[in-house]
Amino acid sequence: MISEKDYNRKLTEARSYLMEKISTKPELGIILGSGLGAFAELIQEKTVISYKEIPHFPISTVEGHAGQLVFGKVENRSVVAMQGRFHYYEGYNMQEVTFPVRVMQTLGVAGLIVTNAAGGINPEFRPGDLILIKDHLNFMGENPLRGANLSDLGPRFPDLSDGYNTEWRQKALAITEDYGIRPQEGVYAAMSGPSYETPAEIRHLHVVGADMVGMSTVPEVIVANHGGMKVLGISCVTNMAAGILPQKLSHAEVMETAERVEKKFVAFVQGLMKV
Ligand code: 6GU
Repeated sequence: MISEKDYNRKLTEARSYLMEKISTKPELGIILGSGLGAFAELIQEKTVISYKEIPHFPISTVEGHAGQLVFGKVENRSVVAMQGRFHYYEGYNMQEVTFPVRVMQTLGVAGLIVTNAAGGINPEFRPGDLILIKDHLNFMGENPLRGANLSDLGPRFPDLSDGYNTEWRQKALAITEDYGIRPQEGVYAAMSGPSYETPAEIRHLHVVGADMVGMSTVPEVIVANHGGMKVLGISCVTNMAAGILPQKLSHAEVMETAERVEKKFVAFVQGLMKV
């Protein structure tokens, strides 16, 4: 595990590098999951910085992800979007997975919108639904805050009782129907992956209160909360989880649904910038 001193040095170097390149400090961060990559096209007065260029940034490996930070303006708000995220299942450790969120924090980001593709467990959900995340279950078997507390960045024992900001979520729910979205919220269960769950695991997750399941988001949300950010989370249900329907799961279905919903998803997130 990396020491507090080393981590702080890496953060400072990444921050200094970015501060030289950008003209305005971002107030809002957005993590673009599968199906939301096109959001980056809406950003005006863009500064695009590849992860490869940023000191100490990990490099993303998954196809369909660009691997860059996009700074600029949307609806007159100053934003930074992560086009491509780091997944735990790729082999990155939790510090690496959450490094970009820490960089955002040191740049002054106060609010974070996190998005993902997820499997639906709640039988009311259908592939293509966009669901506001109201809470999570961390089944990744790790916590990104384990180790020395970075006391300049947040408390040793951060509260997560409003980890997905209720006020922001209510505002988001209130505009869903303007975008052709059914107003629904759910609990997101995070698994380490990369295999999808078994039907028995999905029945287990259902019993303990999960509405959707995925392999991301929770590490970033824990760190964002530690850093005092407000968080809004949205899952795109790309498929039903194992055993819910009498069919196999495929990454192809995940990508197809994500693509089909992309326009609606992008419009909704743009709409959120106005609330
Ligand atoms: Cl069914 N499970 C997990 N863990 N991640 C997913 C998924 C399922 N569908 C999309 N992403």
